[in-house]
Amino acid sequence: MRTILLGPPGAGKGTQAAVIVNEFHVPHISTGDIFRNNIKQGTELGKKAKDYMDQGLLVPDELVVAIVEDRLKQEDCEKGFLLDGFPRTVPQAEALDDVLKNMGISLDKVINIEVNKDNLIKRVVGRRICKDCGATYHIDFNPSVKGELCDQCEGQLYQRPDDTEETVSKRIEVYSKETQPLIQYYQKRGILAVIEGEQDIEDVSQEIVRILRGVS
Ligand code: AP5
Ligand code: ZN
Repeated sequence: MRTILLGPPGAGKGTQAAVIVNEFHVPHISTGDIFRNNIKQGTELGKKAKDYMDQGLLVPDELVVAIVEDRLKQEDCEKGFLLDGFPRTVPQAEALDDVLKNMGISLDKVINIEVNKDNLIKRVVGRRICKDCGATYHIDFNPSVKGELCDQCEGQLYQRPDDTEETVSKRIEVYSKETQPLIQYYQKRGILAVIEGEQDIEDVSQEIVRILRGVS
């Protein structure tokens, strides 16, 4: 199964990726997570990406494409993969097409999760993440039963630095301009599935799993 999760900031891509990976046992490739790990480790890539991320802007295409290409060529991607947060621009989508073509493979499905802007802001501003295992919570919609600690591993929960109201508004604006054209890009190809992302987390998961069972 070779899939892309598309959707604006806070649509639920990371939340649903955890479910898909558990169900279909494919690697989860999140470019946002890759950058955040590089920032944490103080790498050159992390230093280059940080300013863009803090301002809610996209990291330049050439940096992102090179990382994804390397990752897709690793052995564990032979059984399929789930891309989350990539591609995010038409040039990134075209570059992905070239990489996959050279590898002799193609995409099975692109899942687009739709949520209105007011809810996106509420979701992002209230998001909390476990610093140890990366599990995602929400202070109102999906709270940890252990309060400030992770349900699963008791790690401390934190807020992403780009999860302020101001930065998320910028990220949504960038999404509309740069990423939304990809909906048409994949629709034309006949591989787009649209999911109503305002439903409960479990209902969104069920719908996605049903669609992906049809292609795997
Ligand atoms: P990235 O990490 O990809 O962030 P994003 O796309 O902005 O998406 P988010 O992680 O904010 O949201 P999500 O859809 O995963 O939502 P989640 O499941 O957590 O990118 C960050 C930055 O990195 C970018 O701004 C850019 O600078 C850079 N970058 C990354 N990739 C790049 C690329 N390809 N090119 C260039 N730059 C790149 O859910 C959100 C919250 O809502 C959670 O609290 C969750 O519990 C809750 N929630 C989820 N589903 C529901 C539901 N159904 N009902 C109620 N609450 C829900
Ligand atoms: Zn945890």
